[in-house]
Amino acid sequence: MAFIPKDKITDIQSAADIVEIVSESVLLKKAGKDYKGLCPFHTEKTPSFTVSPEKQIFHCFGCGTGGNVFSFLMKQEGVSFPEAAKTLARRYGIEIPTQTMPPEERQRMDERENLFAVNRQAADFFHHSLLNSPAGEKAMTYLKKRGMTKETVDAFHIGYDSGWDNFTNYCLQKEISRELAEKAGLIGSKNGRFYDRFWDRIIFPIFDVGMRVIGFGGRVTDNSNPKRPKYYNSPETPLYNKSRSLYGLHRAKQKCRQSGIAYLTEGYVDVLSLYQHGIENAVATLGTAITPEHVRLLKGYVREVILVYDSDEAGIRAAQRSIGTFRKENMDVRILVLPSGYDPDAYLFEFGPESFTDAAEGALSAMSFLLDAAIKKHGLSVEGKIRILSEMKGSLASVHDSVARSLYIKDFADRIHVDESAVLEQVREVIFENKKKGLSRQHYPPKQLSDGPLSSPALRIEQQITSMMLQFPEILTEIHHRNLIEDFENETLKSVCQTILKHNNGSDGRVSELIGLMDDKKKRDMATSLAMKEDAWTREGCLSLIAQFESIRNRRKTAFLVQKMGAADDHEEMLSIGNEFQREKEIQAGIRQ
Ligand code: UTP
Ligand code: MN
Repeated sequence: MAFIPKDKITDIQSAADIVEIVSESVLLKKAGKDYKGLCPFHTEKTPSFTVSPEKQIFHCFGCGTGGNVFSFLMKQEGVSFPEAAKTLARRYGIEIPTQTMPPEERQRMDERENLFAVNRQAADFFHHSLLNSPAGEKAMTYLKKRGMTKETVDAFHIGYDSGWDNFTNYCLQKEISRELAEKAGLIGSKNGRFYDRFWDRIIFPIFDVGMRVIGFGGRVTDNSNPKRPKYYNSPETPLYNKSRSLYGLHRAKQKCRQSGIAYLTEGYVDVLSLYQHGIENAVATLGTAITPEHVRLLKGYVREVILVYDSDEAGIRAAQRSIGTFRKENMDVRILVLPSGYDPDAYLFEFGPESFTDAAEGALSAMSFLLDAAIKKHGLSVEGKIRILSEMKGSLASVHDSVARSLYIKDFADRIHVDESAVLEQVREVIFENKKKGLSRQHYPPKQLSDGPLSSPALRIEQQITSMMLQFPEILTEIHHRNLIEDFENETLKSVCQTILKHNNGSDGRVSELIGLMDDKKKRDMATSLAMKEDAWTREGCLSLIAQFESIRNRRKTAFLVQKMGAADDHEEMLSIGNEFQREKEIQAGIRQ
């Protein structure tokens, strides 16, 4: 039941006690006002997992994960929000009125439930026939030959469809609606006859993170018939959308969370092979390029993705494309390049898991990978270097954080032995070109690509302000009035503060409810870590912090304008920046608003 009325969620939130819920799976000990225990989301020896009964939130100071009672259950049990809410409602005796659901919604959900049911039955049927039919034995022999164990076959519920109408007949026998099975992509019809779409294929059920079967992939057991594609996958259904699904995530999620890293491969067999060799944090895209939705899905579990690609040209190109997607979604990515012709499965089969993890340790950063690919393509002749620079300057220019950018530029210049200032000049040119084209509208402050370490004094102040807003809501009107947040440099903090301002119109919104409004893991983790602090804020203290921030901001703003003026192309632009400068000075002096 995906539809839960908002007021019920508030009821659940006020009834549930986070200490009680966490205690069911984590041993907690009282420590001052809070409770501490060993974090269930990463491996640790000394407790840094903290639960605050007063604020009704948790935060682990070891791995940085935090949230409220809903996020805890979702993470711990790997369930969706409605499922977590339902569990809590049941436990605290809160009734969720399902009849308030709008009829179309109800119908849509009923259909989804029915599709889930038929998928489940099909997966069980195929699994059973792999293990118990004579033809299944042949398929099992094939799997064994490829190094697959019975344990893996069970863990991933792998199956086999041994005849062209076995499942069709099963539906008849069990009175499973044929329309439904057709809609699920399990059976098709030709010349008035129904047939199994996955006939004579080894079947890999595709699960969502809630462990439900959303679709299937089927592989032929021999590659000799060119008329039969090697893999057949479920079509798009109300449950299955390949640009949003990752094979294996249902099994990998726990290990992903613990390690903070996921391996992203291209195939079913790669995931199974990695799993079998003890590398359980692996998932695969399903015959499609990586989409922003895939990255967002992964964001809920890991901070970094290691793309595993083959070093042939197609693999390199695919990796190059993916890097852009990860960058746009602000997710760290490294690239593990396997020798040409090897996918992870073939690599493990030949060289074993130690060799794989060793190779993974040396996985390249996106920038190094792009540079390596460019060097390989163009060579280090004078001509080659010119081409490399022209190919890479766009990527370098797209790094918005100026410190990171200058480090990359230095590294780049060293690698191809050219003068750093020459690279700098070219990159600057791209930045200005982009600006002219309006590709990156010149906003103040310049947008950062990633958050980076929070070490500069300016960023420390932004953290303090956020913390203050979470702990001393009385100050929110002041913050709002002075428009402080707009000038935050750190995007995560900025977004946390915007959420706080938006949902705290003077009311005493609880921290745990605010946390519940933050879907982005990075945001939530940041907010809980700051909310956990126990600072004693006073109004004077707050105002002095605000004044400090404003003075740093003003200095930065004028410095920025001076720099911009120095880089102006013509007299007209310089004049307009000059006016802007004047206006800024007046605003800062309080002459203008
Ligand atoms: P591969 O051809 O590399 O297969 O396709 P594989 O995963 O290594 O499988 P084995 O080792 O030959 O058994 C990679 C992925 O591309 C999709 C599948 O998701 C596959 O796992 N694919 C491939 C298709 O969807 N259809 C195809 O016909 C082939
Ligand atoms: Mn393979």
